[in-house]
Amino acid sequence: TYSGEVGPRAPVVTVMGHVDHGKTSLLDFIRKSRVTAGESGGITQHIGAYHVESARGMITFLDTPGHAAFTAMRARGAKATDVIILVVAADDGVMPQTIEAVTHARAAGVPIVVAINKMDKESADPERVINELSQHGVIQESWGGDTQFIQVSAHSGLGIDELLEAVSLQAELLELRAHHTGPGKGVVIESSLDKGRGAVATVLVQSGLLKRGDVILAGSFYGRVRALLDETGKPADQAGPSIPVEVLGLNGTPNAGDEFVVAENERAARDVANLRYSRTKGAIHSLQQA
Ligand code: GTP
Ligand code: NA
Ligand code: MG
Repeated sequence: TYSGEVGPRAPVVTVMGHVDHGKTSLLDFIRKSRVTAGESGGITQHIGAYHVESARGMITFLDTPGHAAFTAMRARGAKATDVIILVVAADDGVMPQTIEAVTHARAAGVPIVVAINKMDKESADPERVINELSQHGVIQESWGGDTQFIQVSAHSGLGIDELLEAVSLQAELLELRAHHTGPGKGVVIESSLDKGRGAVATVLVQSGLLKRGDVILAGSFYGRVRALLDETGKPADQAGPSIPVEVLGLNGTPNAGDEFVVAENERAARDVANLRYSRTKGAIHSLQQA
């Protein structure tokens, strides 16, 4: 049984595009210019995710899901993103990974906002980008399509307000809602084994509340949440919908795209985790036998 208040939640946005087209630079600019005053100077980003306040409310950005993680998530039926910002360098145009990102977005049914980046460069040719993308079915509104193209520069900050506005508008159309109370659940963004801290998983809470002390089941692993760390590495007591957080206390490293849920008790979580784990091992074993 699930009870909890349903209310609006922040959009989760993933930035995709061809190598070196400026994805990280764009996110860096947004983060540096938007993190709440007092939090800015000096705080290094701790995980590949963060949220900012825009004129139209909070937006969560995922930096980490590159094409590989995105593919893994899709294969698991996980949906971790509401909107994709497709970055295309204005001096380079549409490239293989640009098209790959379009394919991913379509297959996942996620709307795209195009950021034509590097507009500060002499050789910038935004018309070429618009033309090339239209050949792949990504068509601007003035040509009868439904995609917004925003000209930006991650270096000068040109068009960034407009880009955030376009993303927010796109998100508003989706009328994103979630339970804001009740047991937390969501998706694993990435995980790794840390020498000192053990298994560390970055998860995105999608509904309810994830709290320190909760027992969680994540893919084939489980554990009591020993610590939650926010995007700046600060300990947190809890995280709600659309908030990315680092989790310590799992007994192994789940895969990107695995679901996590807060379990009723440790025993139930352990039983399910162990069953899943042995099935995975069994499947690998029979593959090796074949
Ligand atoms: P990968 O993660 O390696 O795929 O690259 P990326 O898409 O994250 O690109 P990144 O932000 O690393 O930028 C690649 C190069 O382009 C860097 O040298 C940036 O300084 C440069 N660059 C990014 N944005 C701009 C821009 O708006 N204008 C100019 N002139 N250069 C830019
Ligand atoms: Na790069
Ligand atoms: Mg990058």
